[in-house]
Amino acid sequence: MHAKVFSAAIIGLDCIPIDVEVDVSSGKFSFTLVGLPDTVVQESKSRVQSAVKNSGARPPSSSHRVTVSLAPADVRKEGPVFDLPIAIAFLLATYQIQFDVSEKLFIGELGLDGRLRRIKGALSVALMAKEKGFKTIFLPEANAREASLVPEIEIIPVQNLSQILLHLEKTKIIDPSPKMDINEFYKNQEYVLDFAYIKGQEHAKRAIEIAASGGHNILLQGPPGSGKTLLARSLPSILPPLVIDEALEVTKIYSVSGLLARDNPLVTKRPFRSPHHTASGAALVGGGTWPKPGEISLAHRGVLFLDEFPEFSHYVLESLRQPLEDKVITVSRAQGTISFPAKFTLVAAMNPCPCGYATDPEKQCVCGPATIAKYQKRISGPLLDRIDIHIEVPRIKHSEIESQKEGESSKDVRQRVASARKIQQERFKGTSLITNSEMTSKDIQDYCKMEDSAKGLLKNAIEQLRFSVRAYHKIIKLGRTIADLAGSDEIKNVHIAEAIQYRPKIDI
Ligand SMILES: Nc1ncnc2c1ncn2[C@@H]1O[C@H](COP(=O)(O)OP(=O)(O)OP(=O)(O)O)[C@@H](O)[C@H]1O
Ligand SMILES: [Mg+2]
Repeated sequence: MHAKVFSAAIIGLDCIPIDVEVDVSSGKFSFTLVGLPDTVVQESKSRVQSAVKNSGARPPSSSHRVTVSLAPADVRKEGPVFDLPIAIAFLLATYQIQFDVSEKLFIGELGLDGRLRRIKGALSVALMAKEKGFKTIFLPEANAREASLVPEIEIIPVQNLSQILLHLEKTKIIDPSPKMDINEFYKNQEYVLDFAYIKGQEHAKRAIEIAASGGHNILLQGPPGSGKTLLARSLPSILPPLVIDEALEVTKIYSVSGLLARDNPLVTKRPFRSPHHTASGAALVGGGTWPKPGEISLAHRGVLFLDEFPEFSHYVLESLRQPLEDKVITVSRAQGTISFPAKFTLVAAMNPCPCGYATDPEKQCVCGPATIAKYQKRISGPLLDRIDIHIEVPRIKHSEIESQKEGESSKDVRQRVASARKIQQERFKGTSLITNSEMTSKDIQDYCKMEDSAKGLLKNAIEQLRFSVRAYHKIIKLGRTIADLAGSDEIKNVHIAEAIQYRPKIDI
């Protein structure tokens, strides 16, 4: 009495097929699970026995020796997702059902009453199943919409164990989940904030538009209440939606993290994550015994906003350095090494000093120079160096607050950002680059054509302001984005002049 069905295990963001084998022989009662299961998988035994009993089928009797094997045995199995395949394989092994198991994949957690509970990572499962040539996936009804994003594979939404048994016996067929029209998820893109409501701050808005266009990291510095948080939180409203490949990539991360909205299974808006400054290193960059994506991966293809930047722990901020450079985070554990993508734009906001008024021309700062220096030093040079745009957000004038004039709407700005991104998409076709900020010095040589006077201006700036080589490259990359926004193929003098303005006051 032996049976085998197919299931899947999530490892990081990806998925591998798992054979679930059940052998039932007679003897003294035992129920053994082998194949590197974690505690939650071990607990399957109790859930499966109760679910089988409460679904009207026969659970293991006192004369059954049940052995369950999850293969390949050298991969650690996590979570309750093997409940359904174990139950199905047990029922097959005890001849309570009969059907052809080929090209079918089963996955789902069982409640004691036999109900199927939502699982994490259904999109990854469906993508793997399609790639490996499976025809049908049986999974919890709550995951069906998400899995249905994958074309050419049949998704059977299951409510409970009795329902799937009736289906497999062909007594009562469950309708497959209808395929999703991806365009549906691109409708109704609403944003909470809009650039139109931000008074004045034209300089900061322009810098944010450049950051959004070229994926440049940006630091906003200014006195309390000047609007730094407001400006940063308005950024999502000027970002164009994710293109379909990006949307699937981001959705996979949210699916594995269990953060996918049930009624909206495809993430089409660029993520905007704003973790609190008390966040731990693991929460920010990812980790844990079973590595999970952190905030930097949840912000993949979108924005990571770190408000009150110097308040984050030094160790946590330093852990950002490597992913900011590599655009990927690799977590090593005893079970192996897992990588999560982390291509995000960093937006940071801070006051210039503890009291906040060091740069305010009208309000007296009460911090001594040593206090200011200590405060600024909380952000290390190498981290500041990874930020392309440094801007001052001053307090706005009373007349600007009173003004009834509405600024340019986010919709209009978004159109410009989208055009600039389109130019970059064309430029980097066939490469792994998406935005100008990702260019290496070699790419700069290939893609950044400068007019002679721009070269001259840059040379003067380097000599007089003593910019480093790093700063030199950053200015050109920023210049490239500014030129793209202006629709210019060549980087002109004015573009470089504007880019120079965004360097920090002190060169790093
Ligand atoms: N330019 C502006 N137009 C409209 N509202 C503004 C503007 N600047 C600030 N505000 C409003 O003022 C309040 C404070 O702004 P915000 O929280 O963005 O300041 P902040 O610079 O982040 O301050 P802190 O340094 O204390 O964090 C918010 O309610 C915000 O909506
Ligand atoms: Mg703030």
